[in-house]
Amino acid sequence: MKKIIIDADPGIDDSIAIMLASMAKEYKILGISLVSGNVDVNKGYINVCRLSKFLGRGFDIHLGKINPLKKELINAEDTHGTDGLGETFLDYEKKNYAEDAEDFLIREAKKGGLTIFALGPLTNIARALEKDKEAFKDTRIIVMGGNYKSYGNMSPVSEFNFYVDPDAADYVIKNANIEIIPLDVTRKFVLTPNILSYIKRLNKNRGDFLEKITNFYMDFHWEYEKIIGSVINDPLVVLAELREDLFTKNSYHASVITDGDARGMLMVDGMDFLKQDKNIILYEDLKILEVWTEFIEIFTGEKVDKEILEILI
Ligand code: BDR
Ligand code: CA
Repeated sequence: MKKIIIDADPGIDDSIAIMLASMAKEYKILGISLVSGNVDVNKGYINVCRLSKFLGRGFDIHLGKINPLKKELINAEDTHGTDGLGETFLDYEKKNYAEDAEDFLIREAKKGGLTIFALGPLTNIARALEKDKEAFKDTRIIVMGGNYKSYGNMSPVSEFNFYVDPDAADYVIKNANIEIIPLDVTRKFVLTPNILSYIKRLNKNRGDFLEKITNFYMDFHWEYEKIIGSVINDPLVVLAELREDLFTKNSYHASVITDGDARGMLMVDGMDFLKQDKNIILYEDLKILEVWTEFIEIFTGEKVDKEILEILI
């Protein structure tokens, strides 16, 4: 089994990613490190307890520091609800946790064979690299963040995770080998009412839970983007490790703008103007029918009928 740490700010789509990773038999989740983003680490912790209750399993939980490296914390409670799970305020039982996210990441990276799913701002990972870069030399880090060929969701050029902690994003890009799934790719992954309805028919319990936590997200997407459905970015990271064949990716030189109007912008040297070493692997496209098939089969535990799905997406 592949050893995984999920570094997340749950958050609706982070929660879907955590559920998906838990349901995939290929993954052994060593733990969840929490970063502030969609909600702060304390609310994120409560949401992991809520997911534990739904999934009937525990997680080894490690909280990171509450603030980004240098900037003031910004959250996305307008998008994810004040509880981070779409104003559902689900019941939970408090689980044990430690306040040592960066040390936990270093400890497990040193043992080798680790993949980190980085689903929020890169604060914890930057802090861990600052402390012990060597520990991560063979760690695979797959990040949801930034955007390349499209507008952002925080500014004309920046995506939320990189905007919240641009100093961390820039540091991580410059100090580790990372793979990035940017917003212009995740925007193709829209959970529509039709797909949700199919999921509910295949697995009512899980489908109902998915519906409950995405209702608010759906309303947000309609109000701000005129999309009937919700873009669920983070589970794509979970699928990327499992099914490389479903994604197109290329290597580039990149950095992140830390201040000013372009704060949080992932600047990709797509034309090799700078003649610098390529330091990121950037995901540029995906096979959407196959991606949804994989997602639905893992999430529901049932076989997908591609003829039905093709009509729904
Ligand atoms: C990213 O920001 C958050 O709102 C989501 O959880 C995702 O990780 C998309 O910009
Ligand atoms: Ca996230």
